[in-house]
Amino acid sequence: MLRNTKINTKSKMKKYIKQYFDFRSSLKNKVAVITAGGGHLCSVFALALVNLGCKVIIVDIREKKLIDIKKKINNKNLIFYTCNLLNKYDVDKLSLQIYKKFKKIDILINGVGINSPKKFEQISKSDWNTVFESHLLSTLFGCQSFGKYMKKKK
Ligand SMILES: NC(=O)c1ccc[n+]([C@@H]2O[C@H](COP(=O)([O-])OP(=O)(O)OC[C@H]3O[C@@H](n4cnc5c(N)ncnc54)[C@H](O)[C@@H]3O)[C@@H](O)[C@H]2O)c1
Repeated sequence: MLRNTKINTKSKMKKYIKQYFDFRSSLKNKVAVITAGGGHLCSVFALALVNLGCKVIIVDIREKKLIDIKKKINNKNLIFYTCNLLNKYDVDKLSLQIYKKFKKIDILINGVGINSPKKFEQISKSDWNTVFESHLLSTLFGCQSFGKYMKKKK
């Protein structure tokens, strides 16, 4: 009984390790678009995906942040574009530009979202809407524009 359990655990471990390495290698040469790529979280995602062999495109409204991240990561597989993810026309234009350059888009990480700098008690309806909109609209536009090309994959 104990021997069987040990064998089962060992084969499960082997299976998980194989799945882990298969997953890692499946990311090689994937094209990943990361919005808010100049920010804290998404710049770390960008680094992780570059290290896994992806071609990573970081997008942000603030060019200075993108330049800093590019310098930090310093890898030819990382490129950046400035874009306001709340402007559907610009997002459409950018997604087409990226698709033309890379011929595919495999991964999209929607990271855009701002917070109100005010104290919680002082947040107005309009502040709330701005925060809410930044998260939801940027995700909607990102999924619509980049998703169109992601669906083209066989
Ligand atoms: N940091 C956390 O602990 C945490 C926890 C939960 C959720 N989140 C969410 O994850 C996301 C990223 O968080 P973060 O801490 O890295 O934030 P961050 O402020 O460091 O990064 C956000 C980035 O979004 C960019 N941005 C803002 N508006 C934009 C627009 N309209 N178009 C393009 N770029 C725009 C900013 O320039 C900035 O670089 C946010 O949506 C945040 O709400 C963060």
